[in-house]
Amino acid sequence: MSQPEAAPTAATAWEAVRALAAGPDAAAIRTRLDTDPGRSARLTRRGAGLLLDLSRTSLTEAALAALLGFARARGVAGFRDAMARGEPVNATERRAALHMALRAPPGTFRAGAEDASTEVHRTLGAMRAFTESVHAGRIAGAAGARFTDVVNIGIGGSDLGPAMATRALWRHGMPMRAHYLANVDAHAWEAVRPSLDPRTTLVLVASKTFTTQETMANAHLVRGWLVRALGEAQANAHLAALSTNLPATAAFGIAPDRVFGFRDWVGGRFSMWSAIGLSVALACGWPAFEELLGGARAMDEHFMSAPEAENLPLLLAAAEVWHVNALGYPARAVLPYDERLARLPAHLQQLEMESLGKRVTAAGAPVAMPTGPVVFGEPGTNAQHSFMQLIHQGTTPVPVDFVLVAQPDHDAADSHRKLLANALAQAEALARGRTEEEARKEMRAAGLDAAEVDRLAPHRAFPGDRPSTVILLPRLDPRSLGALVALYEHKVACLGAFWGINPFDQWGVELGKQLTGPILAALEGRDVALQPSTAATLGHIRALWR
Ligand code: F6P
Repeated sequence: MSQPEAAPTAATAWEAVRALAAGPDAAAIRTRLDTDPGRSARLTRRGAGLLLDLSRTSLTEAALAALLGFARARGVAGFRDAMARGEPVNATERRAALHMALRAPPGTFRAGAEDASTEVHRTLGAMRAFTESVHAGRIAGAAGARFTDVVNIGIGGSDLGPAMATRALWRHGMPMRAHYLANVDAHAWEAVRPSLDPRTTLVLVASKTFTTQETMANAHLVRGWLVRALGEAQANAHLAALSTNLPATAAFGIAPDRVFGFRDWVGGRFSMWSAIGLSVALACGWPAFEELLGGARAMDEHFMSAPEAENLPLLLAAAEVWHVNALGYPARAVLPYDERLARLPAHLQQLEMESLGKRVTAAGAPVAMPTGPVVFGEPGTNAQHSFMQLIHQGTTPVPVDFVLVAQPDHDAADSHRKLLANALAQAEALARGRTEEEARKEMRAAGLDAAEVDRLAPHRAFPGDRPSTVILLPRLDPRSLGALVALYEHKVACLGAFWGINPFDQWGVELGKQLTGPILAALEGRDVALQPSTAATLGHIRALWR
């Protein structure tokens, strides 16, 4: 990406995009694919080992050029560079957003006067020593038994990224089993507990703030289980903390050498590369964790240096602006065609919606255009038997990201061929659709009578021209997973700049947290004035408690 000689204003640049989107065939995909055999090659890019194919969208080269012009006018490259310089791009919290420093070589990133990378590498060294000592049995349970299981207690960014990565990288013969406890609903703990032996269980309390209600409640619940089984003095040997809040970890009783820290310039949803990723290292092994960081670093280098027309995160963000703002599509689905990526949609839901669900600009003014779309997903092929009906025939197009893995890690080649065939068939069906005339012809060929053909034709027609993007990984290994997640992180940063919003704060989660206090007090039997509808629902609940 480079800065322009003389950038047009954002309004002029946006007008160029809008004018193209207003054209009669702006949303056409089928005809473009049918009549332009070179389209796929021209709209496919590679970076950090991944392939991005935008050919099944309605983007034309003119639209892409206009969107890149809009990116220039909005200062997307400048925002990226300010982020990399450690400037306080998270203005409302007066913080940098330096997750790239978490996977960079020593001495490469600064946060103001601070050498961010040196501290990162000190923590990585401590995480590595701890991981290897646990695996070797040098760090063991209070009674000397080797740790076989790790329980990560955390929520949001302190859960989703590591849980997603551990699941994605799972192989037979991994060093430890990992379990993730997030919900304050103790049914979650009840589900995990029977498979655990306290003598061989290591518990990580993962919380950036170490104040999150759900995490602290679960931490006390699980510590109580350890204390009952092992005794008060022994329980602490089974605990470690991943946090920025050292006073609070000490108050919880966790020894300083069992606390793995990070700084406030690591946002929760960008933190799986920090100490928050310790469960990934413990479960998958230190070499895998290092490779994960290496993949993300490769994507960082691509993001920082690839020209704008080749820059994967920028292109993915530009496609989102096209879909959300130019064509008015308010949602996007993420379908990983790999069961091991089942938690990728959940991670992206937080990464994208907590970052981009904003209605005021970074300066506090109302936004000029819609911002983050609803993001949801499920692995394919399961999604096909769930919500794909709406995506094929519903009233509003929902762009889809198909995340495909070329080479599986099993030897059931037939299953993998079927998996890939399904993914590509979905992408083709969305783009191509089926006209009523095509539906009629098919039914006539199948022997249906004319009345039945007439009756069913509208139901069996597909509008087509429904966009999708393919992201292809050579193999689901730590390196390509790191690159994939970093691709989405950088896409989010680009969209923050496109829309002029702060993608690194999350004030929208605060009000509900505050309101929990008095309602909890009422549930505990204290006399608290509540909003009438809340009081009424509590009344119904209490009636069922009797
Ligand atoms: O849901 C709000 C949030 O602050 C997320 O941004 C964060 O990932 C999560 O809570 C957990 O926070 P913590 O790591 O401080 O417990």
